[in-house]
Amino acid sequence: MSASTPTTATGSTAVARGVRIEAHEVRKSYGRKTAVEGVSFVLAPGERVGIVGESGSGKSTMAKIITGLEKSSAGSITVDGRELNDLMSSRQGQLEYRRRVQLVAQDTTSTFDPRHRIRESLRIPAQILGGHDVAGADAAIAEITAELGIEPAWVDRYPGELSGGQRQRMSIARALIVRPDLVVCDEAVSALDVSVQGVVLNLLKRYSVEHGAGLMFVSHGLPATAFITRELVVMNAGRVVETGRTLELLERPSHPYTQKLVGAYEDADETAA
Ligand SMILES: Nc1ncnc2c1ncn2[C@@H]1O[C@H](COP(=O)(O)OP(=O)(O)OP(=O)(O)O)[C@@H](O)[C@H]1O
Ligand SMILES: [Mg+2]
Repeated sequence: MSASTPTTATGSTAVARGVRIEAHEVRKSYGRKTAVEGVSFVLAPGERVGIVGESGSGKSTMAKIITGLEKSSAGSITVDGRELNDLMSSRQGQLEYRRRVQLVAQDTTSTFDPRHRIRESLRIPAQILGGHDVAGADAAIAEITAELGIEPAWVDRYPGELSGGQRQRMSIARALIVRPDLVVCDEAVSALDVSVQGVVLNLLKRYSVEHGAGLMFVSHGLPATAFITRELVVMNAGRVVETGRTLELLERPSHPYTQKLVGAYEDADETAA
């Protein structure tokens, strides 16, 4: 397996790329329900940022807005200084943004069409966004699956023939096959058991480090987020309550809500010890 030498084997570059995303006072309302309000943060190129907060705090809403799946109701998102809404107004801009920014959704069952073998679902982004022909797409599939340590035979199975953990790794392969500059992971490991979580977290971290790509890790689980990120954005009830370097924030949380989150994390840690 060539998983240990993915970049040198293929000649892919490890040059820092990344994308700079700035959220300014973002609001999103669904009818009369305001999901997020006044959300501002900066995601620097190649940075690994966690968005944490309890259920319903607006994390997925921000993930969808940043990946262009949802439009904000107010405020702005800029991508390397350009308005995301302007970028998404043309088909060309949408394709370019999808090539650069990819989402790993929590629900892998919606990522893969149950009627098609995984290979079909992996070929689509490789062809449409990566510009490959079928043979090139298959070569890209072989490359990314080797890099992620995925058993080649899994590719020719139907999604229902894989375990949740295997499918989760496939959904990461689907996101990474286009070599994005930013990967947005929405609860990408929350449903996995702890040992598989470790494998997946390491794969994501390695991709970020080796390719200089940014990672936005959306999770209600602080331990996984603390392991993989260098910065945190803490959300509560649709608002950002605190931001900072992950280690500093864990050591000296200043907002009461962050203190509560960190306290629960430390309690869980002690129970496990
Ligand atoms: N399409 C929608 N229509 C109406 N309300 C919505 C919609 N999507 C989200 N919401 C509401 O917006 C708020 C934020 O939801 P969001 O999914 O962003 O939370 P979350 O932090 O991701 O939660 P979880 O940890 O449970 O995934 C919630 O109150 C939710 O009910
Ligand atoms: Mg969510």
